Amino acid sequence: MSEERKKVTIRTLMKKKEASEKIVWLVVYDYPTALLADEAGVDMVLIGDSLGMNVLGYETTLPVTMEEMLHHTRAVVRAVKYAFIVGDMPFMSYQPSVEEAIKNAGAFLKTGCDAVKIEGGAEVADRVKAIVDFGIPVIGHLGLTPQKVSMLGGYRLQGKTAEDAKKIIEDAKALEEAGAFGVLIENTTAEVAKLVAEETDLIVFGIGGGPYCHGQLLLAPDVLGIGKIRPWFARTYVNLRELILNAFRRYCEEVRKGLYPAEEHTRHMEKEEYEKLLEMLGKK
Ligand code: KIV
Repeated sequence: MSEERKKVTIRTLMKKKEASEKIVWLVVYDYPTALLADEAGVDMVLIGDSLGMNVLGYETTLPVTMEEMLHHTRAVVRAVKYAFIVGDMPFMSYQPSVEEAIKNAGAFLKTGCDAVKIEGGAEVADRVKAIVDFGIPVIGHLGLTPQKVSMLGGYRLQGKTAEDAKKIIEDAKALEEAGAFGVLIENTTAEVAKLVAEETDLIVFGIGGGPYCHGQLLLAPDVLGIGKIRPWFARTYVNLRELILNAFRRYCEEVRKGLYPAEEHTRHMEKEEYEKLLEMLGKK
């Protein structure tokens, strides 16, 4: 008999970490994708600010607003029954002040999120502490932090040197001390995430962080082959781009050739009514 599926909570995630069961996390931005991700059995979903590139057509995550994030978060929350839902704090939703950080983290919780994710280490520790103090669970985000893409000089691999790796490990410790329960490590050498997992009690999630993490995150558009930026670490499980293109091309062709709509997509008036109508219009 299969076990009854329950809503994933922080306790579930902690237990999975303790049992060395890998945690599956997926970035989704909309109702239909979230519905399928939840049905497929992912443990967690993130409404990522990569929404900017993958859905809204921006070049980076920087223009994404709280309003845009909340709009998409609400759609995801309406779809998800079981997965743990994380809202991604967009650029300038937590940087200006501790108060802004609390207010905006709270706005994600009000939509139905279970936690928020914040980019940065020691420099955001006061924001993380304040948010956690108000009962909002936080996941940090280190390594390649896309909101700092300009300062990092592009989407480059992080933690290549001992100094850089040490800084990431120290930042993880600062996040743990501030009360975060997890940290996402993006686009780094695998040794960084391994050491963060050894040196802290955080649940360590990786997206291009290597195999030693407790959980893995990927973006639904990358899994499906329709992502805007194809990161080196992503695995594409289906080439939806080709399937969608073919479907759209066939639709264009069939409309232009008069093959769609066919008889099965057409509804007719009763013959009698039609005759009456023609008569009324003086066409008979
Ligand atoms: O916005 C997002 O999807 C993210 C991932 C790239 C980690 O933060």
